[in-house]
Amino acid sequence: MERTLSIIKPDATTRNITGKVNSMIEDAGLRIIAQKRIRLTPLQAEEFYAEHKDKAFFTSLVDFMTSAPVVVQVLEADDAIALYRKIMGTTNPAVAEEGTIRKTFALSIDKNTVHGSDSPESAKREIDFFFSGTEIVG
Ligand code: CMP
Repeated sequence: MERTLSIIKPDATTRNITGKVNSMIEDAGLRIIAQKRIRLTPLQAEEFYAEHKDKAFFTSLVDFMTSAPVVVQVLEADDAIALYRKIMGTTNPAVAEEGTIRKTFALSIDKNTVHGSDSPESAKREIDFFFSGTEIVG
């Protein structure tokens, strides 16, 4: 079994569609083994997205991710990282495959509804960033 970190982003919490996103996650066979709704601080968002700090979109990314609550989650399945990335769809929803979360719900490359870890190393760092061991119940 593998674990991945998911974030349901502000564009989804403000539109009240977190349950619809969770249905797509569960329908794909991923188990939500930890979940909490939080409001990221600018410092947390900057640290979480530190790998993007030199990108042109970094400031707008931090502004957006702190603009409203997010739901952070740990998802578990065989090949959870790849499976979640498949059902999320591409970062830019304009070119995402039909039936993916981003094709269905995302509004733009910034307001793209969900984040998922991109490697086992990122998953470990990102899960540890938000959750203690006792909060994860597999
Ligand atoms: P996410 O998977 O959360 O990781 C970084 C985020 O930056 C990404 O999703 C996008 O929402 C956002 N972003 C904004 N502009 C770009 C861009 N040009 N390329 C990649 N990511 C972008």
